[in-house]
Amino acid sequence: MTSELETSNAVTSDKQQEWLARGKNVFMNTYASYPVVIKQGKGAHVEDVNGKTYLDFVSGIAVNSLGHRDDGYVAAITEQLNQFSHCSNLYLNMPGIKLAEALVRNGEFTRAFFCNSGTEAIEAAIKLSRKYAKKHKGENCTTILTMSNSFHGRTYGALSATAQTKYQQGYHPLVPNFQTVTFNDIDSVKSVEAKSVAAIIIEPIQGEGGIHVVDANFLRQLRDYCTKENIVLIFDEIQCGIGRTGQFFAHQNFDIVPDLIALAKGLGGGFPIGALLAKEQFAEAFEPGDHGSTFGGNALACAAALECVTRIEKTAFLNSVQERSERLRSALKKLQEQKTGIVAVRGMGLMVGVELEFPGKPIIQSCMNNGMLIVGAGDKVLRLLPPLTVSNQEVDQAIEILTKVLAEHKPEQ
Ligand SMILES: Cc1ncc(COP(=O)(O)O)c(C=O)c1O
Repeated sequence: MTSELETSNAVTSDKQQEWLARGKNVFMNTYASYPVVIKQGKGAHVEDVNGKTYLDFVSGIAVNSLGHRDDGYVAAITEQLNQFSHCSNLYLNMPGIKLAEALVRNGEFTRAFFCNSGTEAIEAAIKLSRKYAKKHKGENCTTILTMSNSFHGRTYGALSATAQTKYQQGYHPLVPNFQTVTFNDIDSVKSVEAKSVAAIIIEPIQGEGGIHVVDANFLRQLRDYCTKENIVLIFDEIQCGIGRTGQFFAHQNFDIVPDLIALAKGLGGGFPIGALLAKEQFAEAFEPGDHGSTFGGNALACAAALECVTRIEKTAFLNSVQERSERLRSALKKLQEQKTGIVAVRGMGLMVGVELEFPGKPIIQSCMNNGMLIVGAGDKVLRLLPPLTVSNQEVDQAIEILTKVLAEHKPEQ
């Protein structure tokens, strides 16, 4: 599929090579995939077509919140499949209603809109906030502020909101009236004329940008400013929401509530679903016909997400995420003290970034050779995103592999 795949030194048998060659023949060249074809998974492990198993500390990039092939998850989807899978938004379905109820009972939002991915949740947020602003602040109030180093998705609106040129190259012209301000800098936000600003989008923890937790003081100032100027405050919790930080929503760690929140990834636990939640006065900006999606709120996706949400919202579940996080992060900090090339350990809960002195790619490849999947975030940051159900033993195993790989790696001086 990519040059990375061709030049990899991973040992691959004929079976895997055969599948890789077939994939290379038919897929567009969009992903820098590793030379691994996954066949099955269970809990925090996956197995490739050669029978090699890996400890999965990627979980589909923060998607498989309950791990792979979880019994309750399989049962919930199977039960719904035996009823019906899809019925269009011309009608309502019970899993969709229950899921919306479960999401709003966990925060200060009153209404949900369902879609199929993170980028679509951002699109819904952009459309809703522009409609709200036109009504309440005037026709010319259309500017959307986004943070430096952010990532919000790949469709045109979300791409225009993504303030990293590497994702935008080749796609201009983008959607107009998106403006980048500096992450964690309230003066930068206030330098844009408030009456032109419809909305501000921010990730409480920047994911693709390298696992950077927002400064709590900045977030408070941002909240106060948006309230004062009637600017819609949108949190992108697509990667950091739904239990990933050890709280149900990431913003609950800061005690600051946005007006809209975009969710996806871990919400469906492996089934594609996204959601936009809104406080009542903002949700009111949408009227019938304003927005929609054929598959949005699909009964099967909602049944899958309902199983995730009703398990993850439990205090005992969230406490266990915090406990595993402590174990993982304190072991990583110890590793850092041993001068293994770790510059910083960042993140919250089970969304952990490990910044290295050197490029992360060879480390990711060596981890894979040693039976563990991890993912990068930028050039020098490793991301550890295990399933939220990961065990203490699996955390210890991940640290063992990483310790070995870092010890073997000779940093270029
Ligand atoms: C913070 C954030 N926002 C938006 C997206 C886009 O989500 P999706 O890939 O489901 O469209 C991602 C995906 O990585 C993300 O991490």
